[in-house]
Amino acid sequence: MRALLALSALVLSSPVMARGKAEEPDQKAARLEAQMTDAERIGLLSAIMPIPLAGVEVDIPPGVPFTAGYVPGIARLGVPPQLSTDASLGVVNPGQLRVGDVATAMPSGLSLASSFDPILAERVGVTIGAEARAKGFNILLGGGMNLTRDPRNGRNFEYLGEDPLLAGMLAGYSIRGVQSQGVVSTIKHFVLNAQETQRNTANAVIAESALRESDLLSFKIGIEIGQPGAVMCGYNLVNGQKACGNAHLLDDILKGEWKYPGWVMSDWGAVGDVSYINAGLDQQMGRQLDEHPWFTEPLTAAVGKGDVSKARLSDAVRRMLRSLFAIGISDAYSTQPIDYKAHAKTALEAAREGIVLLKNEGILPLAASAKSILVVGGNADFGVLSGGGSSQVTPSNGEMRVLKGGEGPVELFNRQSYFPDAPIAALRAALPQASISFQTGYSAEVAAAFAARADMVILFATKWEGESYDSGSLSLPQGQEDLIRTIAAANPNLVVVLETGNPVTMPWLDKAKAVVQAWYPGQEGGQAIADILTGRVNPSGHLPMTYPASLDQYPRRALPGLGLPDKTPVEVDYSEGADVGYRAFARSGEKPLFPFGHGLSYSKFSLSGLSAVRGEKLRLSFTIRNVGDRAGADVPQLYMVGRNGERLQRLIGFQRVMLNPGESKAITLTVDDRLLANWGDGQWSMPAGSYSFALGEDAERLEKPVTIRLGEKHWKD
Ligand code: BGC
Repeated sequence: MRALLALSALVLSSPVMARGKAEEPDQKAARLEAQMTDAERIGLLSAIMPIPLAGVEVDIPPGVPFTAGYVPGIARLGVPPQLSTDASLGVVNPGQLRVGDVATAMPSGLSLASSFDPILAERVGVTIGAEARAKGFNILLGGGMNLTRDPRNGRNFEYLGEDPLLAGMLAGYSIRGVQSQGVVSTIKHFVLNAQETQRNTANAVIAESALRESDLLSFKIGIEIGQPGAVMCGYNLVNGQKACGNAHLLDDILKGEWKYPGWVMSDWGAVGDVSYINAGLDQQMGRQLDEHPWFTEPLTAAVGKGDVSKARLSDAVRRMLRSLFAIGISDAYSTQPIDYKAHAKTALEAAREGIVLLKNEGILPLAASAKSILVVGGNADFGVLSGGGSSQVTPSNGEMRVLKGGEGPVELFNRQSYFPDAPIAALRAALPQASISFQTGYSAEVAAAFAARADMVILFATKWEGESYDSGSLSLPQGQEDLIRTIAAANPNLVVVLETGNPVTMPWLDKAKAVVQAWYPGQEGGQAIADILTGRVNPSGHLPMTYPASLDQYPRRALPGLGLPDKTPVEVDYSEGADVGYRAFARSGEKPLFPFGHGLSYSKFSLSGLSAVRGEKLRLSFTIRNVGDRAGADVPQLYMVGRNGERLQRLIGFQRVMLNPGESKAITLTVDDRLLANWGDGQWSMPAGSYSFALGEDAERLEKPVTIRLGEKHWKD
């Protein structure tokens, strides 16, 4: 893996060879841009979505595949065409229009985040990037990482949880992996695109300081680590301005203060005016989806009138070219064969690391002595659920089972698709001596009658979620809560496996002896679930989101705009500010159902000896030991738990550590001062005083804190 890191660092920093001598990407971009006509420049600044969409048809040039975005290149100058594809969970074949084209379907973002494993994130990125390239794409619309502020958000499954450090690091490493393959990655959706309901017209209201300390910080961390070639701005408004026309976010912060050198592309259909280019937007994507293809003739006219300066036009083009050249794209990619079998191993490993054992009263791992096991529900005889929308992958391991998604243009996004990797088949292979039978669970009473005669029951509960659609509640849908209760009454030896896009509430929790959160585990998910249930793999996932006891623990009881006609303007007041998820629970003292960071193992770990030293940076050291009798990985977490008497909690470091029984490791983590600071008056500030830190197995199970005095410090981003 070190080789991988070194490889990606090399690719990111290597100058481009041109005309016999090394030429830096910025210089090459400037040289080529200077030779362009305005028509050529403007031609690069918008993309069609080359897909036959009813009502918004577009001419698709011959040879261009059905995909998310296409921009012709400029052959005379060696500027490559841009062919972009979704995205973070694998290379998407939208609506399966590219007949027969499949890809490795990775576990969901929340599953990846549950691994707390940046190296895994990079490996997943490498795999997806390699497939994108081998299919001829040079831009991957990945890096989805909006903080999960609302557990009903239908796209949370694509994202990386509620913590800025965790989400930023994992996004950064996965982007680094993608770009190591010579494919530009985006980071998205900038910023606060935290609900799907009314996503085009929802105005995210938040104080600047809070935004800096939360979502903006996590994007900054992701950009620093991953150096994505492009930032995709979101559909929503932020403090009254559309995110893609928001000069404060794009020009002042991203390109100004942060000196981001790449380009800003819009989300598809997120551009309301040609003037967005003056606010920092460089490229209009999916231009036929907007009211006007703003960055075509309207942009030419605006440049002609002087409403958009030539300098701005040049800047937009240079940013784009330098990002393409920085990762070595100078030509269209030809298609190459893909070793899907090898890539499936990465998907399997990711799924195993992402599964979280939430509860276990000694029933797992499954006893080799279990003679009769009843499996109920969740299409577990067929496969595992995936999330819907633009991230939906067509898996490489067989035909999906697809339930159509209603009517109209969102039908495609609302399809419920199961990947064909049946958990029950993997269980049968792992436990050949047991008799394992299946009940669909359509009738709770029928399933209960069979349950009563089995040694134990494994019940699969699913909740489909997807883009453009939020959940109204945190309950399991379609009578599954009742199913769980009815089965538990017939047989108390009940294990519940959850395939959900988000946390769910569990009014039935005391009825289950074990609960396993498998998320949407990707195309190898059936095998991974069986590996965890049987103990072939020791569970090591930890929650990247708090599981609330009820929605009442969140500031927005009703989903703003739910049920209103599409594109109704609504205010979404992010009154929790920077206290997203566990941070708010720490302040209020409310008890969640399961805390952020929670995750059980079949082994046991002990944490000890926390000490803090301040040099140029704060360094915290401790020891972790496997005190159980199985090899396994744990994720020790370091939190700031107090500052000058203030009650607060922030994750400031973590590390996934693999240990054999009896083995211990000394760990030292270096802390990013921004996680200790507050934003105000245009800078980060740390007050002088006492700072307390605690090690934890999760955000609640904390060891005794250590306290250290730190000096006052102020700095700019
Ligand atoms: C999504 C983006 C995606 C784009 C292209 C939009 O609906 O919000 O995340 O990259 O479509 O498919």
